[in-house]
Amino acid sequence: MPELFSPFKLKHVELRNRIAVPPMCQYSAEDGVANDWHTVHYGALARGGAGLVIVEATAVAPEGRITPRCLGIWNDEQAEQLKKVADQIKAAGSVAGIQIAHAGRKASANTPWEGDDHIPESAPNAWQPIGPSGIAFGKDLPRVPQEMSIADIQKTQQDFVKAAERARDAGYEWLELHFAHGYLAQSFFSKHSNQRTDEYGGSFENRSRFLLETLQAVKAVWPENLPLTVRFGVIEYDGQDEETVAESIQLIQQFKQHGVDLVSVSVGFTIPETNIPWGDGFLADVSERVRRETGLPVASAWGFAKAEVAASVVKNEQLDVVMIGRAMLASPHYPYTLAQQLNVDKPSWVLPAPYAHWLERYSI
Ligand code: NDP
Ligand code: FNR
Repeated sequence: MPELFSPFKLKHVELRNRIAVPPMCQYSAEDGVANDWHTVHYGALARGGAGLVIVEATAVAPEGRITPRCLGIWNDEQAEQLKKVADQIKAAGSVAGIQIAHAGRKASANTPWEGDDHIPESAPNAWQPIGPSGIAFGKDLPRVPQEMSIADIQKTQQDFVKAAERARDAGYEWLELHFAHGYLAQSFFSKHSNQRTDEYGGSFENRSRFLLETLQAVKAVWPENLPLTVRFGVIEYDGQDEETVAESIQLIQQFKQHGVDLVSVSVGFTIPETNIPWGDGFLADVSERVRRETGLPVASAWGFAKAEVAASVVKNEQLDVVMIGRAMLASPHYPYTLAQQLNVDKPSWVLPAPYAHWLERYSI
């Protein structure tokens, strides 16, 4: 029976436990370049004991950033700085992952603490978002994206390939393609945002094409011995969930055929009007279904932080890897807390010796 604090092997990579830090944007970069904030932040998360730390959504092209402060990986300077981040994570004993992303029609937004809305079109720091069709997300993100031409699609797919090569060369050992959260790839798959009449829209096969072609192109450059993973919104909570989940599972079966090693199950976030059942581990059941019906290992996030929840979804074989986000922002040593609460034999092993020695010795 797998345990939260048992190792997890995928390809040639072994996580020291099943706890992963999911990608979480820091909105702290200039020109897409990582800085001291990122090396300290990710180093601290890794020292806290997670098996895997995935660096935030990192844009494959300037127009693929959510905000002007997002990380990028479209040039060598960015890759050089991201290598320092990977080095920090690995030195602390975690596996270094990175999520490569294109924000599509949700791009050109203000940071969350400056509004979380589209930057006015006339502002000097705004840019034109692109998407499968000229349909805006709505609510605080009203800008209508420029419908992508076939040349735009091919260029963006090449941007993903170059980003994957740079991530590989920077030492990342776990690649996550951001195919979730209403960003570009998810918006190609969803009928809400894709109303194209060419080979990239309409039927299930056509709406899957952008995702599968991008995946195949990246697969060709990503090392065979390292995990290639996808974060995908399998459900929207928009009242059409049976059909969406069935289609999502069909697509994930194709991801598997094209060499994906694990899927991180998430929500689509393609439209603002949804009825999401926020609560502890609300994606556990659908994750378990994806795992059972596709035979792929799965991870998931959203409300798995409580010790009993995190431990039970692993023990019950609903999830292979548990993503814990905001609790790690609150306390980067959260895995230590989990280990204590679950009475793991040697909780201190999740912390490095300069901390562990003192915590083992004296109670606090
Ligand atoms: P929003 O952050 O605008 O959230 C959409 C709706 O979901 C809002 O009604 C919001 O409530 C609610 N909500 C979001 N998170 C929670 C939560 N943890 N618990 C309860 N209610 C919640 O949507 P976005 O489309 O911008 O982002 C979708 C999700 O992805 C968000 O949860 C966000 O945290 C996360 N995210 C993803 C990023 C990425 O993939 N790169 C980047 C940043 C965030 P309310 O209106 O009360 O806030
Ligand atoms: C996120 N999330 C997110 N998701 C993603 O796929 N790429 C990203 O870059 C981000 N960025 C991001 C920033 C911040 C500040 C938050 C809080 C969230 C979603 C994140 O990965 C995770 O799914 C949620 O935080 C839910 O997990 P928890 O926090 O309930 O454990």
